[in-house]
Amino acid sequence: EVWNPSGKYRVVSTKSMPGTRWINLLTAQDCRVEICTEKKTILSVEDILALIGDRCDGVIGQLTEDWGEVLFSALKRAGGTAFSNMAVGYNNVDVSAANKYGVAVGNTPGVLTETTAELAAALSLAAARRIVEADQFMRAGLYDGWLPHLFVGNLLKGQTVGVIGAGRIGSAYARMMIEGFKMNLIYYDLYQATRLEKFVTAYGQFLKANGEQPVTWKRAATMVDVLREADVISLHPILDKTTYHLINKDSLAIMKKEAILVNASRGPVIDEAALVEHLKANPMFRVGLDVFEDEPFMKPGLAEQKNAVIVPHIASASKWTREGMATLAALNVLGKIKGYPIWSDPNR
Ligand code: DGY
Repeated sequence: EVWNPSGKYRVVSTKSMPGTRWINLLTAQDCRVEICTEKKTILSVEDILALIGDRCDGVIGQLTEDWGEVLFSALKRAGGTAFSNMAVGYNNVDVSAANKYGVAVGNTPGVLTETTAELAAALSLAAARRIVEADQFMRAGLYDGWLPHLFVGNLLKGQTVGVIGAGRIGSAYARMMIEGFKMNLIYYDLYQATRLEKFVTAYGQFLKANGEQPVTWKRAATMVDVLREADVISLHPILDKTTYHLINKDSLAIMKKEAILVNASRGPVIDEAALVEHLKANPMFRVGLDVFEDEPFMKPGLAEQKNAVIVPHIASASKWTREGMATLAALNVLGKIKGYPIWSDPNR
């Protein structure tokens, strides 16, 4: 699909993206926009090489693609200087290879913070109240009347939410769980989440002034403290060498038997095979997963576990956010083509 065929700068998007604002932005600035219409979901390096072709000024790519030496060198040869991931995470991008070939890299933070945090909150609730299991039970026609023990789950109020990685998304999630469900907070991050701490303190004072039990916060000295103390744990780190399999057999063993674990960050942060074994051995332990170690696949056995809520990497999938991500990705590429610093450079 081609927009503004006579445009001076050739910008390729490896996927169709929501909305038209991003296309309008580019075409209004003399860009010819080419959108790949290939039907298969995940493009190979060869597919993308063909898209880059002999001349290409910039590319908007996706987190399912492997942006390394081969693609960045090809982009340079084609005269390209700009690449943007349509994602905040960029573990699929070898930024040093991009730097080596003089290609600026952008990502799309900010616009997906609340949407992603809302999905993590939804997974927390779905796991706590066994929503998916109960839904399947209804659809199977198994409901034959109210029972005192039917789908009994966990009350969140007064329990402790544990956040591992209290950056933009982790902090937004924490606020939702604290304000929405009056949970106490324990978090682990290399950096102090000062604004989050101030929020919990102020909210705690507000509750107290209204005669309610105040909420509390604690910054954990180690991740183990979060694993040991929290009732609901949500993972929000970036994926790199230090966070690969952060949650493994040993860390799962530390968690409470009835804990809930949520992951809307990146799949390889959890050792998924170890998680499957843990879910099998601990039916009261529950997970809410948006991401998987080897997407689009799941480790054998995961789909059969009733104590797992699983959705297909949709944390940022609200219309507003996806249009915003597309717009930021276009701005990143356009900025660089026009000689400005890239809008959002993960190196900065
Ligand atoms: C991201 O942006 O990194 C998400 O995984 C997709 O929105």
